[in-house]
Amino acid sequence: MLRDIEVAFVGSGVMAEAMIGGLLNQKLIEPGQIVASGPRAERGQYLQERYCVRVATDNREAVTNAGIVVLSVKPQVLRGVMHEIRGHIRSRVLVLSIVAGARIQTISNGLAHAGVVRAMPNTPAQIGEGITVWTATDEVSPEQREQARTILGALGQEIYVEDEDDLDKATALSGTGPAYVFLFMEAMIDAGVHLGFSRRVAQQLVIQTMRGSVEFAQRSTKHPAELRNQVTSPGGTSAEALYQMEKGGLRTVVSRSIWAAYQRSVALGQGKKHGGPGETGGQ
Ligand SMILES: NC(=O)c1ccc[n+]([C@@H]2O[C@H](COP(=O)([O-])OP(=O)(O)OC[C@H]3O[C@@H](n4cnc5c(N)ncnc54)[C@H](OP(=O)(O)O)[C@@H]3O)[C@@H](O)[C@H]2O)c1
Repeated sequence: MLRDIEVAFVGSGVMAEAMIGGLLNQKLIEPGQIVASGPRAERGQYLQERYCVRVATDNREAVTNAGIVVLSVKPQVLRGVMHEIRGHIRSRVLVLSIVAGARIQTISNGLAHAGVVRAMPNTPAQIGEGITVWTATDEVSPEQREQARTILGALGQEIYVEDEDDLDKATALSGTGPAYVFLFMEAMIDAGVHLGFSRRVAQQLVIQTMRGSVEFAQRSTKHPAELRNQVTSPGGTSAEALYQMEKGGLRTVVSRSIWAAYQRSVALGQGKKHGGPGETGGQ
């Protein structure tokens, strides 16, 4: 799928490394087909030594012969980077952006380039356990869509969507999702410490409970509500805890938070920098 094609990563940070590592581990590409660019020579040297890929500190040099250009810089530098490489990407090349909040129109205009894939990965991608939602412009050919699928598959699961608005929704649900999970994890660990467990034991109890529950839910054919009912005996401990969570509005808070994240994602895509608590309204 990626045979004989050069893939340039513009921005060689955490996510670019996750993609490079995944593609090479799965033998989907040869190291010589990859070029990674970024401002720091030491970072390039590290990637070169670890993965035997080619590196550059000049973004233009990196993209000139590429068949696929992956934009993996932070949103703050995107405008400058696009200005730099505009006119240096060949017309039939696939541009794949993972830059959070950057709309296809922005990338397309910024690069004067029509074939663009926009993707939203999440942090577990760093261990190949992410989920990425992506979409493509009409100008991206079926073959290029498969190439995009292969590259994003190196980060874990991937889901194609027709509508770019679904990327803002996915940003709120799966892109930001790890933050919610980590917060819940942290709250449970703190509760365990409050009960008197050492932090180490509380952490072990919580992480394995979460991991086991996720795998159980994944393997089971039952809806999560049914699995929850199974551990909720009348007048028991789960019923007591769940009553308190519902009373505290946990479900409503989760729903409102994710809706607010969606609206924030839409606003960021429109270039609105500032937002405050409650500004996004809600469901
Ligand atoms: N991390 C995630 O889980 C995640 C999830 C969803 C989306 N994303 C998106 O993925 C993108 C990359 O995120 P990341 O976590 O990989 O960030 P990162 O580790 O900071 O990587 C960005 C890289 O870009 C380099 N860079 C800075 N200025 C540059 C320039 N002018 N030209 C080329 N490279 C430049 C940085 O180099 P220096 O370090 O030397 O500055 C850094 O190596 C972001 O847009 C983010 O929104 C990330």
